[in-house]
Amino acid sequence: APSDPDLVARARAAKEALGDRLFILGHHYQRDEVIQFADVTGDSFKLAQQAAARPEAEFIVFCGVHFMAESADILTTDDQKVILPDMAAGCSMADMAAAVQVEDCWEALTEAGVADVTVPMTYMNSTAAIKAFVGKRDGVVCTSSNAERALNWAFERGEKVLFLPDQHLGRNTAVRDLGLSLEDCVVYNPHKPNGGLTKQQLRDAKMILWRGHCSVHGRFTLDSVRDVRERVPGVNVLVHPECSHDVVSAADYVGSTEYIIKALDAAEPGSAWAIGTELNLVRRLANRHADKQVTFLDKTVCYCSTMNRIDLPHLVWALEELVAGRVPNQITVDAETARHASFALDRMLALP
Ligand code: 13P
Ligand code: SF4
Repeated sequence: APSDPDLVARARAAKEALGDRLFILGHHYQRDEVIQFADVTGDSFKLAQQAAARPEAEFIVFCGVHFMAESADILTTDDQKVILPDMAAGCSMADMAAAVQVEDCWEALTEAGVADVTVPMTYMNSTAAIKAFVGKRDGVVCTSSNAERALNWAFERGEKVLFLPDQHLGRNTAVRDLGLSLEDCVVYNPHKPNGGLTKQQLRDAKMILWRGHCSVHGRFTLDSVRDVRERVPGVNVLVHPECSHDVVSAADYVGSTEYIIKALDAAEPGSAWAIGTELNLVRRLANRHADKQVTFLDKTVCYCSTMNRIDLPHLVWALEELVAGRVPNQITVDAETARHASFALDRMLALP
């Protein structure tokens, strides 16, 4: 639907009033009505880099989800304020790993005698507390665009990796990119004693995968891939690595949102593409590439409901509050957590 013209005018006016004091970041899964106001759009990695690259901006309005805004707060200076236009924009995957559960897991690894040869690694899609846990134990953060490099780094440092919280990104990276076998991976279920694993299983495994997943990417199945190949002959199947290993193995190309955008830009006119990621992005790609056939990998509609919480009314509200001299919905990470988390985040940003 087209954006409300009144709200568009108000967002423009507020942006202009704030000038260089304001910097708006937008994740690729944001609605069209919001993304049009972003100064920079990107995948999680690019947005983390960009947040750190604007020390002169007083306010960073983050159009994305809570864990991204937390990371931006950690990576920016103490004077900068990070604002999330709707506090309910969380991430169900990040919520699947709580710090106390991860402490219990580490205890299980310790009892199995393998904690000191295990490197903890967390996907960006996790709370600041989880990043701090990882930083405290000399581990690393990754995003979907640098998971291979980060995992290689981790295996240079230890014999095993505890990968949090997305089992699919962990498995896909280990098997597809590093050549490990599926048998090298075990899944730690935080709702079972000792993760539902024996000490021997923890000793034998190379990758200990946290039992977390993305509910949006979980919608794509092997059948979705088979169906689209039948419906659209010659179609190129391009999916995000948060999809299951089955789906990723059946796809032609796999990568982060930024990778997906670049792949479509480079695609031949007339070529056909089925994209397995969030729908706001896929619709934008279909509109931008009218000379290519771009379809959604699933037959049903599937947005990320929390990404979609950030809509134009919330953005306008946040901007107008700033104009009025108030700071709404500021995201702050306490100093101790930030210190440890930034260690693991900086290590990611410094990966070759
Ligand atoms: P990227 O944009 O880094 O590919 O991440 C996808 C995602 O699910 C963010 O929540
Ligand atoms: Fe979280 Fe998945 Fe939404 Fe990304 S798409 S914010 S991983 S629920």
